[in-house]
Amino acid sequence: TGAVTYDAGFVNTASCKSAITFIDGDEGILRYRGYPIDQLAEKASFLEVSYLLIYGELPTAAQLDEFSTRVKHHTMLHEELRRFFDGFPRDAHPMPVLSSAVSALSTFYQDALNPFDDEQVEMATVRLLAKVPTIASYAYKKSIGQPMLYPDNSLGYVANFLRMTFGVPATPYEVDPVVEKVLDMLFVLHADHEQNCSTSTVRLVGSSHANLFASVSAGVNALFGPLHGGANQAVLEMLQGIHKGDDTVESFVRKVKDKEPGVKLMGFGHRVYKNYDPRAAIVKKAAQDVMSRMNASDPLLDLAMQLEEIALADDYFVSRKLYPNVDFYTGLIYKAMGFPTKMFTVLFALGRLPGWIAQWREMIKDEDTKIGRPRQVYTGQAERTFVAMGER
Ligand code: CMC
Repeated sequence: TGAVTYDAGFVNTASCKSAITFIDGDEGILRYRGYPIDQLAEKASFLEVSYLLIYGELPTAAQLDEFSTRVKHHTMLHEELRRFFDGFPRDAHPMPVLSSAVSALSTFYQDALNPFDDEQVEMATVRLLAKVPTIASYAYKKSIGQPMLYPDNSLGYVANFLRMTFGVPATPYEVDPVVEKVLDMLFVLHADHEQNCSTSTVRLVGSSHANLFASVSAGVNALFGPLHGGANQAVLEMLQGIHKGDDTVESFVRKVKDKEPGVKLMGFGHRVYKNYDPRAAIVKKAAQDVMSRMNASDPLLDLAMQLEEIALADDYFVSRKLYPNVDFYTGLIYKAMGFPTKMFTVLFALGRLPGWIAQWREMIKDEDTKIGRPRQVYTGQAERTFVAMGER
């Protein structure tokens, strides 16, 4: 079968062609379908960006309206699916609850499982966009013992999610427009990032012709890891540890540089960016704005800025081109909005959802797609003869 190239972690291997997202890691450039991320973050809504990623062009007002109405039509969860939440332990992390519920969508929507039927793929697309925020808020309500709220489709996508998460029955819930706008913008920043670990997982699972729900559920599980989406939770826990006095900023940085097992500067470094992550620059500014506009102050924000300043002046980080990534400042905003630490990675999943869907759809339509099946470099025993049990 010819020579095999060894590339652990696919550092140099392109697994596909894609027309969705462009990154120039040296220049710190990120574009969705050609549009720079800063323009989209400032001017476009999350549903608009979802449409752009999935269908390739910005929607007209009529197209966006139609898309948004279709999504709203599917925001409720099947009552039987709602009961799934009863079975999880109360202290369960919401990420595996989310991936389990997304996986279960394949059992409820058997009319949307055929990857080669465009209408079915469209149904699965709309159902996922509609139901994942409901699932996410139910996972949260379960963890705090509050009743789950049905969606309110008079609200926008993000406002509805905020109400389902923070609202309680029989009490009007006022969506804070600052929180709504900033969360929408954060979802835009997370919406796609080409062939990252979870997206590659979604494509790999889909390459076996597994359905969209199954593929996205696998993506959620890949995102859970602390080197990927789980980093936003890990950053906050790192800052809390320093704040509690487990370490000073200096002693913590020393441990990182000494490569103590398991100690990294979480929220720093990136496989592709060897320059400031353009998303992190936008998030840092938003964190400062949100804190001042919500009249919140957080000593953890000062700690984060101190860590960044020290790291960016330290040869260890400079020589390795380690800069803050998107996860470094997001947790501080989520915290100021009232989300518990455990929900941070779920928020990343809500944002990344349209990217997973767009990439899966591109994969299934690409005639070059083959089942993902990497090779290996075998390092085990050469052939040897079986030894009978009594002779071992
Ligand atoms: N703290 C300390 N050292 C680091 C860090 C860090 N955060 N990141 C990389 N390094 C060092 C690493 O030890 C290695 O040093 P050496 O050359 O001496 O062996 C060098 O920098 C190159 O790093 P690498 O591990 O080969 O890089 P990678 O491309 O395999 O890993 C990464 C990328 C993001 C997994 C890694 O930078 C990391 O673990 N960062 C912390 C976790 C994190 O913030 N993840 C979020 C990524 S961004 C968005 C997302 O996916 O959520």
